[in-house]
Amino acid sequence: QQDQMKTGKLQGKKVLISAGPTQEAVDAVRYFTNYSSGKMGYELAKAAAGAGAEVHLVTGPSKLTVPNNVITYQVTTAEEMYEQIVELYNNMDIVIKAAAVADYKPVKQINKKMKKKDGNLFIELERTRDILKYLGEHKKQQYLVGFAAETDNVLSYGKEKLEKKNLDAIVINDISNKEIGFQSDYNEVIFLTKDGEEKSIIKSKKEAIASQLIAFIEKETRKD
Ligand code: CTP
Ligand code: CA
Repeated sequence: QQDQMKTGKLQGKKVLISAGPTQEAVDAVRYFTNYSSGKMGYELAKAAAGAGAEVHLVTGPSKLTVPNNVITYQVTTAEEMYEQIVELYNNMDIVIKAAAVADYKPVKQINKKMKKKDGNLFIELERTRDILKYLGEHKKQQYLVGFAAETDNVLSYGKEKLEKKNLDAIVINDISNKEIGFQSDYNEVIFLTKDGEEKSIIKSKKEAIASQLIAFIEKETRKD
């Protein structure tokens, strides 16, 4: 599979990939985040670059070393990720949104360290912007691929996101299984296209999943 893609099937294509979690500050020393490691997105970036694409990786905070053959943009918050992606979006051929973007952020960000007080603490959260939905609404030539993390009704929730966000395809992750997904080197996904094509990728290393996904996506983009 990998060798097949090394022949440069994505030569001349610009690919935008988002990866990792976002961090939403509460005060000077605290933030909200999630368990995303960034691995899936980084492997996708490597696979796309290996296939000859010009790869732009927009990444939230991740411990991983950035691949050297991709153009990397480091961001922290969902808002920063939105700004960076929108700046790049118009020139892209393929966009893959693997990032685990925070759905909520604190209404107030306090610049100082909050002092503890007696009793419970309530932090009010507001919705962040749905970056992927925005991209779907402003889609032109781009082949747009989203991700879905689900713990139940995996396929139907995934399909719903594909339609609601005007995607060309979605990669559905079952995160109820702790052996795979978020922090793991392994994953197991379903690739679903808007035309109803459905491909299951059995449990494998994220590196192998990434090269299969890039191969599927490349094939789909040749259809239209
Ligand atoms: N996403 C995004 N911006 C957000 C939230 C999510 O771009 N503010 C993108 C993710 O990068 C992913 C897709 O939307 O590609 C699906 O994310 P997911 O968390 O599974 O779904 P949500 O639409 O956020 O819905 P929910 O968390 O309620 O299931
Ligand atoms: Ca979400």
